[in-house]
Amino acid sequence: MSDDEGASYPWSRRVAGLKSSVIREILRVVNRQDVISFAGGLPAPELFPTELISRLASDLLAAPEGRQALQYGETEGVPALRERIAARAPFPAGRFDADEVLVTQGSQQGLDLLAKLFLDPGDEVLVETPAYVGALQVFQFFGARVTFLPCDGDGVLPDALAAALRRRPKLVYLTPTFQNPSGVCYPEARRAEVRAALAGSEVLVAEDDAYREIWFDAPPPAPLVTGLDPDRVVYLGTFSKTAVPGLRVGYLLGPAPLLRRCVLVKQAADLHTNTLGQHLILKLLGEPAFADHVALVRDAYRARRDALDTALEAGVGDQLTWRRPGGGMFLWARLTGGGDAAEFLHAALAEGLAFVPGGEFHAEGQGQDTLRLNFTNSSPSRLVEGVERLGRAMRGWAPGRRP
Ligand SMILES: Cc1ncc(COP(=O)(O)O)c(C=O)c1O
Repeated sequence: MSDDEGASYPWSRRVAGLKSSVIREILRVVNRQDVISFAGGLPAPELFPTELISRLASDLLAAPEGRQALQYGETEGVPALRERIAARAPFPAGRFDADEVLVTQGSQQGLDLLAKLFLDPGDEVLVETPAYVGALQVFQFFGARVTFLPCDGDGVLPDALAAALRRRPKLVYLTPTFQNPSGVCYPEARRAEVRAALAGSEVLVAEDDAYREIWFDAPPPAPLVTGLDPDRVVYLGTFSKTAVPGLRVGYLLGPAPLLRRCVLVKQAADLHTNTLGQHLILKLLGEPAFADHVALVRDAYRARRDALDTALEAGVGDQLTWRRPGGGMFLWARLTGGGDAAEFLHAALAEGLAFVPGGEFHAEGQGQDTLRLNFTNSSPSRLVEGVERLGRAMRGWAPGRRP
């Protein structure tokens, strides 16, 4: 629908200014068979544990208690799943109880609930540069003023964070582990410095940890919020990257009083997360084969990361700069000679390759020379072919000129 087509509806002020994201627009184009897409953020569907899920689903529905899995449920989530999530959270044992777990419709819903709970128009939210676009959309939807903090290859700069905290923002949103889009994983030393900056403030800190288990070279350090004031911390997790995104099961961990309000907001949105999905995730977590599955995903994505990294080095090593990500699903690159990646995208699409221009993840007008390449949704050979197309597009492209 174009903006004009919607002109006759009596939109609320909140939605009147909404624009379709560039990513959605790109994804529409790249559904063509002849386009290799490094644009989306999709896991590899061929790795989904379909046989395991299928067996668990038929066992579950054949059992007398299976009907519970098709019934309305509690807004907080299936109690046994909440217990399991609390027990396996990457924190010291006992740090979170089951009543500090809210099961959400993916971690994206956790972000939406936090924004509804805390953000009035004009409230300041601190985010990293670049930042996860799904979070930016939510914060902007609720009228927040988003401040992008400067980052280096180790994460947010502690001094810049400390200075911004003096303005008493409402929320700090961080993705310290294999960030989408940058792939950055804060080393322990930076986590400690950021913790020190946050410890002197009353601000609410939300850590989004979607990629923790998708590590390739070494497991990541403990979550950044470990050891911060438990009353000021919220932690978001998901089963989308390790199991499947289609079941839409994620979670939010936080202090019980905060969660009780969150439950009221969630009730108004969807009553509860889908029960069948929760029961299936619960069963999956109880299967020894699930750990093997996660290891298999890690191995496959590591091979894809390596294939992309090697092909880029050989094909466009002098035109792009990047740091090999140690985990996650994305490689973040910069046009060495400058230029606008959104403009370069037209040249790439003409060669049959899609990616996301990095401006999307920045404040208006920033980060134009950056791009995000997804490596999990293409086989190693498609990744190599994609980089060949990228190279051809680069050779035919001069910044400032559209093909
Ligand atoms: C950083 C980050 N947070 C949250 C999400 C949302 O994931 P889901 O709602 O599937 O859990 C994503 C998905 O790409 C993500 O990259």
